[in-house]
Amino acid sequence: MSEANKKSAARRSSDFSRERRVPSLPEQSFFGAWFTSDRERDSIRNGGHSGSRPTFCSSSGRADPAAGSDFSEALIAGLSAPQKSIPSRFLYDAAGSALFEKITTLPEYYPTRTETEILRHQAEEIAAIVPDGAVLVEFGSGSSTKTELLLERMENLHAYVPIDISATALQDAKARIAERFPALRVMPIEADFAQPIAIPPEFSTRPLFGFFPGSTIGNLRPVDAVALLASMRRTLGPDAHLIIGADLKKNVRRLLAAYDDADGVTAAFNLNLLARANRELDANFKLDQFKHSATYDMRNGRIDMHLVSLREQWVDVGGRRFHFDAGEQIHTEHSHKYEIDGFHTLAGEAGWRPQVVWTDAEHLFSVHVLVADA
Ligand code: TRP
Repeated sequence: MSEANKKSAARRSSDFSRERRVPSLPEQSFFGAWFTSDRERDSIRNGGHSGSRPTFCSSSGRADPAAGSDFSEALIAGLSAPQKSIPSRFLYDAAGSALFEKITTLPEYYPTRTETEILRHQAEEIAAIVPDGAVLVEFGSGSSTKTELLLERMENLHAYVPIDISATALQDAKARIAERFPALRVMPIEADFAQPIAIPPEFSTRPLFGFFPGSTIGNLRPVDAVALLASMRRTLGPDAHLIIGADLKKNVRRLLAAYDDADGVTAAFNLNLLARANRELDANFKLDQFKHSATYDMRNGRIDMHLVSLREQWVDVGGRRFHFDAGEQIHTEHSHKYEIDGFHTLAGEAGWRPQVVWTDAEHLFSVHVLVADA
């Protein structure tokens, strides 16, 4: 496709979204998507990336013999600190992944369906930006559900490279996509996307298009988010693009409802951390003595998830005893919310330049196309 065509395709607007060009972007510069693995570990404490599982992961299904001991070490370390915490990557065992799938369909949980609608409505324009012969690289691909919306339109794509730590999820996704798009090469990489990833050399000379949906970027603190975006830029090389979803700041009540739904699915999802410790680590958390809590931290623009001890109590985990005061909290997850400009600043610090951003009519969620800075 010619530059001119690409430009007009990207500029065209649709009824659905207010397509927003980046206001400060001059016309000439117009051209140019977890989970953390059970290996990633301890990154919250040592300052590396931390992440959470992307939106669609059917089941953890992995047979990692070290998983139990990793959970055990992380839990004991997290409960030993003055401010107790449990790394969010442990939310996504098979039970947790099933609960999260349910969250994505709740009326209160707007991010998944809003992002999906934006992608559905903009798929053609996104496809128009992707050069012929490009390779689509998805970070934390899970079941690759949202990807199919793009693949339907990307007729001249050379290959699709889904990256995920779950071999089962990759196999299932590959089988489904290979059947639906028989001409497309699908080359999965089983890896933790928070670590640097080597793209197969046969693809590395082609234009690479990253895809990171789900606002998983929001589960990292801004400094870690910048580090992850910079690492993705290195993975994808100099001429890369990145399509990334970021949840937007909005009415606080609406935000809180999304993280504390009326049916208690999110509460069950959060409490599954303690249930999992009981199942796997011979812990004795009394699940009715803890409750889920989601609060909005105005200053940092983020939802904080906690498990709150309902009374003073002791809990045994792997032969150790932990004391909880009444009302004491275990921190389990952050979910940062952005303004479009704030997200652009973050991306800029990681060497990405905004090309185009779409939002839904209610301005709930944003999908950005970023270009690697020269
Ligand atoms: N990436 C999701 C988000 O930030 C993760 C999530 C949704 C989550 N609901 C949760 C994490 C509840 C912990 C508890 O929106």
